[in-house]
Amino acid sequence: MPVETMKWRGNGLEIIDQHLLPMREERVLMTTVEEVAIAIETLAVRGAPAIGCAAAYGVAVAALEKCERDHVVRAIERLRRTRPTAVNLFYALDRMSGILDDAFSSGDPLARLTDEAEAVFQDDLALCRSLSMHGAELLNDGDTVLTHCNAGGLATSGYGTALGVIYAAVEQGKHIEVYADETRPLLQGARLTTWELAKSGVPVTLICDNMAAVVLAQGKIDHVIVGADRIAANGDAANKIGTYGLSISAGRHEVPFYVAAPLTSFDFELATGADIPIEERETAEIHSQFGTRTAPEGIRYYNPAFDVTPAENISAIISEKGVARPPFASVLENWNVTD
Ligand code: MRU
Repeated sequence: MPVETMKWRGNGLEIIDQHLLPMREERVLMTTVEEVAIAIETLAVRGAPAIGCAAAYGVAVAALEKCERDHVVRAIERLRRTRPTAVNLFYALDRMSGILDDAFSSGDPLARLTDEAEAVFQDDLALCRSLSMHGAELLNDGDTVLTHCNAGGLATSGYGTALGVIYAAVEQGKHIEVYADETRPLLQGARLTTWELAKSGVPVTLICDNMAAVVLAQGKIDHVIVGADRIAANGDAANKIGTYGLSISAGRHEVPFYVAAPLTSFDFELATGADIPIEERETAEIHSQFGTRTAPEGIRYYNPAFDVTPAENISAIISEKGVARPPFASVLENWNVTD
C-alpha cells in the first residue's frame, strides 16, 4: 500500500492531515462528526473515494459521540453538505443510512456502523486494486504518463486510481515515469502526487499546469491518466479543474486520455455531465494562496473546483469492470448491472 490515508482507531478516525504535506507527515485523530465534516470541507482529507470512506467513518464517529439514532441521522445530513461533486460521498452515506434500521435494532449499533464503515473502506481498496490491474495493461515498459491533481493513495483508501494504474504497472515490472501537473489553486499535484510517487520510488517530474500542452507537443508523454469525482452515464467525467483543458491538449497531440475510477464514482442517474454539481470554492484560494496575497483587492474572482471532460475527449474509461472504449454509453450500461 503506497499510503495509509486513514485508519479507524476505535476511539475515532485517524487521517494524514493533507494540508501539511509534503513538509510534514502528521496524523490527526478526529473524535467528533464536526471535525470529520470540516476535514472534508477543508481538504485535510480529499479525493473522491477518500471523501466517501472518511464520511462513512464519520457516521461511526457520530455513534461514538452519542449512540442515538437521531444524532446519527443528523450527522449523515451534516456530512452530505460537505462537498457536492464527488458522488462517492453520497454513495457511502446512502450505504450507511441503509443499515441504520438494522444497526439500531441490533444489540450494538456502534459495532454495526463501524463494521459497515470498515467495509466501505475495504471495498474501496479492492476496487482500486482491481481497476488498477486493468489499467496497467494499457501501459508499456518505458512509458511516461502525465497526470493532473492527485488520484493516488491519498485520494482513496490507500492505493489510488490514476496513480493506482501506475503502481500496478510498476508491480508488473514495467518502468514508468510520471509528469505531474502542479494543479492550481490548491497544488494537489505539487504537494501530494509528487510526495506519494517519490515515496513509492516512481520517478516524477513536476510541471506547472500551463506547461502541459508544450510537454505533450514535445512528445514526452505516452498517456494521460486522471481520476474522476463523478462520471455520467454517457461517460462525461467531472474531475479537478484543468482536466478538461488537458483533455483538449492531449487530443490535439493524439496522446491517449484515460479516466480511471471505481464504479462508486459513477452516477448512472445522470444522462450527461451537464447536471453534475460543480463545487465553487472560496476565492481566497486564488488570491491568497496559502496565506500570501498574490492578486489585488477590488477585482472579481471565480473559483470552480472541478470541470467536466466530455466523453468524446476520453480514449478509455477504466474501472474494476475493465476498460471501456468509446462509445461509452452501452458499455457503461452493462457496468451498471449489479452482480
Ligand atoms: O478537490 P479534491 O482534491 O478532492 O479533488 C480531487 C480530484 O479531483 C481527484 O482527481 C478525484 O477526486 C479522483 S481521486 C481518486
